[in-house]
Amino acid sequence: MDDLQAQFDATIAADQRIEPRDWMPEGYRRTLIRQIAQHAHSEIIGMQPEGNWILRAPTLRRKAILLAKVQDEAGHGLYLYSAAETLGADRAELTELLLAGKQKYSSIFNYPTLSYADVGVIGWLVDGAAICNQVPLCRCSYGPYARAMIRICKEESFHQRQGYELLMAMMQGTDEQRAMVQESVNRWWWPSLMMFGPPDSDSPNTQQSMAWKIKRHSNDELRQRFVDMTVPQAEALGVTLPDPDLRWNPERGHYDFGEIDWSEFKAVLAGAGPCNAQRLAHRRRAHENGAWVREAAAAYAEKHARKQE
Ligand code: ACO
Repeated sequence: MDDLQAQFDATIAADQRIEPRDWMPEGYRRTLIRQIAQHAHSEIIGMQPEGNWILRAPTLRRKAILLAKVQDEAGHGLYLYSAAETLGADRAELTELLLAGKQKYSSIFNYPTLSYADVGVIGWLVDGAAICNQVPLCRCSYGPYARAMIRICKEESFHQRQGYELLMAMMQGTDEQRAMVQESVNRWWWPSLMMFGPPDSDSPNTQQSMAWKIKRHSNDELRQRFVDMTVPQAEALGVTLPDPDLRWNPERGHYDFGEIDWSEFKAVLAGAGPCNAQRLAHRRRAHENGAWVREAAAAYAEKHARKQE
């Protein structure tokens, strides 16, 4: 056991990857299953807010892009459930835990998409925040998670660009379209900052996850990186970020920003966000409606296996 632990520690210290066949501490396995499952659930639940606009996209081109994007999110969920399975988790059980409200998904997907501009703003801010958070996960110490993240990040970059391009088009349109973009930015800015998780002083998992090199940066570091990256993009777009305290701090070499309303974050995590009930109810319904597909696939797999015997 001591030898195994020493070998694990040496692998982490040498920045090499832990693979499914390797010994790992139970806490490392549990942390990864928790994070990867939460991440997978976020991708799947995250299809809903934008899915809301597929039938109402203004042109065929916008509809095709949105459809492809939402399908990508489904694919991300599937790679991530597969990564969790390499740790011994069972995908059906993870889904049950989500549906029972026992596993989390990202707070951001509990907000409504009230206007078409939200499709652009989700691409720009929400996928932008996701990229900031997830690019370092490509260097996560657990091999299957790190490898899944490479493809996911490439696709997220495309999502971010399509959102920004959509907003650019709207900002070059009418006053009404510009107002729609600004109104959407006002609603999504603060929830996007909350995506990075609680402040470091209140983040129970960060220290250990960083020691294990699952997380490479703390929540506050990544949040700051996102703000620094996004302010010039907002200027180029011609929108105002809804924070009177947002300003460049030459001494720190970063933007200062206002206090996040952590009571709102906690309420959303506790299930009291604007759309929590709706998101889970929709997911439960989809799961029930898909039961016959799972049964048919399992019956086919069994028949096929028998034939091969
Ligand atoms: N939404 C919901 N729950 C959150 C969020 C959030 N934005 N941020 C933190 N939490 C939860 C954590 O899961 C943890 O709960 P748990 O212990 O019951 O699992 C608790 O709040 C405390 O937070 P931390 O100690 O900071 O947790 P952790 O070290 O796991 O960090 C983080 C949270 C940054 C989200 C991390 O899990 C992570 O990087 N995950 C992978 C990325 C991801 O899940 N992205 C999903 C949204 S992006 C997208 O899908 C487009």
